[in-house]
Amino acid sequence: MHLETIPVFKPLIETEEILASQRALEMGWLGMGSYVGEFEEALKTFLGARDREVVAVSTGHAALHLGLLLLGVGSGDEVITPSFNNAADFQAILATGADPVFCDIEEDSLCINLASAAELVSPRTKAMIVMDYDCVLCKHDEVAAFARTHGLRVLHDAAHAFGSSYRDRAVGSFSDVAMFSFDPVKTITCIDGGALVVRTEDERRRLHEMRLIGMSQPAKVMYNNARAWTYDMQAIGFRYHMANLHAAIGLAQLAKIERIASSRREACLYYNEHLRMIDEVIVPKTNFAGITPFLYYIRVPAKKRHPLRAFLNERGIETGIHWQPGHWFTLFKNCHRGDLSVTDRVGHEILSLPLHSMMATNTLDRIISGIRSFFGRSS
Ligand SMILES: Cc1ncc(COP(=O)(O)O)c(C=O)c1O
Repeated sequence: MHLETIPVFKPLIETEEILASQRALEMGWLGMGSYVGEFEEALKTFLGARDREVVAVSTGHAALHLGLLLLGVGSGDEVITPSFNNAADFQAILATGADPVFCDIEEDSLCINLASAAELVSPRTKAMIVMDYDCVLCKHDEVAAFARTHGLRVLHDAAHAFGSSYRDRAVGSFSDVAMFSFDPVKTITCIDGGALVVRTEDERRRLHEMRLIGMSQPAKVMYNNARAWTYDMQAIGFRYHMANLHAAIGLAQLAKIERIASSRREACLYYNEHLRMIDEVIVPKTNFAGITPFLYYIRVPAKKRHPLRAFLNERGIETGIHWQPGHWFTLFKNCHRGDLSVTDRVGHEILSLPLHSMMATNTLDRIISGIRSFFGRSS
């Protein structure tokens, strides 16, 4: 019997997304328009962040780049980030002219290790990026205290944590500047998209200009599917705005976030329950309360990771690696860094298993059974 390949990621595209796309295309206003304004409002409501401003942009990478610029990061500055982070974060730091400085992660959460970060603070350090590695969030209270002590600005990369909450507050609603990605594989997708959550109207205005090649065109005009033909330009800008079609898809996805979140949480709990019994497998240390998981990962002995991947692949089960640490890349191999022993170990052990919204139990069973057989247990 031919078994269907199980991909690592599988977007949930249903009738609502297809109808939303059709409506957006038929509207005839393809650039940034009314759906973008609606999407920002819907995100703000979802986050319960009435005291914050939400700005939609073209990608998560664009959000990171603009977020760093907003925090005043530029040439000659240093930005501390875990080396165990997405390449987009490192590239966004470079794009501002600043240098990434790599700190280690905690063994349990796989998020930033603040003691390691403390050793790297220098007179050039301007900001830090903290990212929630999916199933377990950063210790955000400690991050805020650390930033205050060292006089640093914080960019919270919440690309993996959309829909999660920390101490009963929505992720994205409490940081200096937070960002999300809605790329093709994220918990909710806009095909491509991102968003920044900031504190003040002035920050929102600056982001509006920067995302639109520096044009001071009022967003409220564009949200009426129109444009101002005259405008000023006062600061650097990029073509980073979100398109109407993408926002329309994002709105359709956001409307089903509860269903998406609970199905992903259940799948992760199922994985944890069945995989924690295998001696050589380390599962995420969490009960997933308040978490909307984007990725499900395990750690396996470094020597067994590639054989396990090959074994599963032969059985039509794809796996991923999130991530290769930053300091392993040629571009960043000379970056300033601290002791990265946990990152180096985790970088060789980490393995992402398939996680989809509405994942069928028999799909999960096939994956679990493959892993159990590899490690020599009966399936
Ligand atoms: C943690 C993290 N930050 C940032 C990004 C960049 O987002 P995008 O792909 O939307 O540019 C990603 C994308 O995978 C990510 O996982």
